[in-house]
Amino acid sequence: MVEDDKILIGKSGKPEYLHLPLANRHGLITGATGTGKTVSLQVLAEGFSNAGVPVFAADIKGDLSGVAAPGQGKPPFVKRAQEIGIEYVPDRFPVVFWDLFGEQGHRVRATVSEMGPLLLARLLDLNDTQEGVLNIAFRIADEQGLLLLDLKDLRALLQLIGDNAKDLTASYGNVAKQSVGTIQRQLLVLENQKGEEFLGEPALDIKDLMRTDRDGRGVINILAADRLMSNPRLYATFLLWLMSELFEELPEVGDLDKPKLVFFFDEARLLFSDAPKAVVDAVERVVRLIRSKGVGVYFITQNPIDVPETVLAQLGNRIQHALRAFTPREQKAVRTAAQTFRQNPAIDTEKAITELAVGEALVSTLEGKGTPSMVERTLIAPPMGQVGPIDASERQRLMQASPLRGKYDQAVDPESAYEMLAKRAEKAAADSQAAKSGGGGLLDRIGGFFGTTHKRGETLTVGQHVAREVTRTVVNQAIGGLAAELGKTLGGRQGSSIGRAIVRGTLGGLLKR
Ligand SMILES: Nc1ncnc2c1ncn2[C@@H]1O[C@H](COP(=O)(O)OP(=O)(O)OP(=O)(O)O)[C@@H](O)[C@H]1O
Ligand SMILES: [Mg+2]
Repeated sequence: MVEDDKILIGKSGKPEYLHLPLANRHGLITGATGTGKTVSLQVLAEGFSNAGVPVFAADIKGDLSGVAAPGQGKPPFVKRAQEIGIEYVPDRFPVVFWDLFGEQGHRVRATVSEMGPLLLARLLDLNDTQEGVLNIAFRIADEQGLLLLDLKDLRALLQLIGDNAKDLTASYGNVAKQSVGTIQRQLLVLENQKGEEFLGEPALDIKDLMRTDRDGRGVINILAADRLMSNPRLYATFLLWLMSELFEELPEVGDLDKPKLVFFFDEARLLFSDAPKAVVDAVERVVRLIRSKGVGVYFITQNPIDVPETVLAQLGNRIQHALRAFTPREQKAVRTAAQTFRQNPAIDTEKAITELAVGEALVSTLEGKGTPSMVERTLIAPPMGQVGPIDASERQRLMQASPLRGKYDQAVDPESAYEMLAKRAEKAAADSQAAKSGGGGLLDRIGGFFGTTHKRGETLTVGQHVAREVTRTVVNQAIGGLAAELGKTLGGRQGSSIGRAIVRGTLGGLLKR
């Protein structure tokens, strides 16, 4: 529910709100399993949608899809509405479904160059040496004007690098053939996990996540993440890519009266569990900086200690559901969670955390100029959408009716590194063939370029000679212009230069800053 510039979270002695102008100062929802995290997430997502703020949420168990259908008036939620003195009015919300595997929603893709070497190295589980080689591969692609869109491109490039490892080492530093081999093997593993479907065109245009419906409600974008869970590295890499992409693409806006987009990361621990320090640092940086782009990030995880302290410190709006405190580790987590709140003299925070009922939480949000409110024991409001998943046929119906239908569903395969390298190889083969046979050099080369065969011993009329010379000139110009042209049409998809798109890779760029 939205009142003016705030979302009703629930009631303590008084109503507790999330303030929209401060909603880009991020948030955290934590609590043991079954304590009400997803329901709290849904309450916030519905509130943002009502306020015209689009939302992106990873749906781990599929239960968030319920927002697309009106609530069914189940007793706990009707009762909760009564308890906190609000009306229970079932409602449905505009939803767009996404799926990396393209089954339960629009397919989400990123290009290899958008991923950049840092994230790709993480996705492929590479060590530092191998990551170094990957960096060199991106540099070479950049210098040679080779677009890296899909895995085919990367594979072709690695092949080239492997074949020329010795020469490349002289000018780029150590390019061990062995490392190239490892990267190639890891690419195969990724393919076997169907991870390659995620890399290629048409890549996601982040503007498509920032839509409102006809009534001005924010669209709730739901990423099917149940299958993704079996590949945590893909999940983490994808979400990091998405955040860094938003960071790169959105303009600086300062403080707005409400966010432009809000992100919910469920199972946030997967982002950080055995992530290398470089990646954690990158997340910390993106979270810190993305705020001024009008994007709010909310992490959902069982335990606040799953989130690194540097990130935790930036999550201003907190909903803490019950935690258990049996083991020493759990007790430490409760203590940590309790200490992060602005204390309320009327509440023993630590004790309260272990006593909270389902759908009840300790809540503290940013208010005024950005100070945290005193922590309050709060009964969380009921969602007005359905709680729990919608059925498969309803989901299919919504997917059919999606405003983005057709845009992402077919893969396209534009001219990129693989195709360009294949052409060069063909041309080289034709050249050497021509050199061997000793005649017709240029003409053969042109024939080679077009993939046609030029029959030896054929006599040409003057007219044919002229025609072929003209063709040669045109072809040479075409080759020269090819890279630049591709840079404009593909690399420049979002107004960026080919160099930027390829070399930096978004997080890589952030890290260098
Ligand atoms: N605000 C609420 N009002 C009434 N009942 C609630 C509320 N929040 C949660 N519940 C009840 O608790 C159940 C579990 O909530 P939820 O699915 O949000 O837990 P969770 O913390 O996300 O669990 P998990 O860790 O397993 O994902 C709900 O199905 C509902 O019955
Ligand atoms: Mg849940």
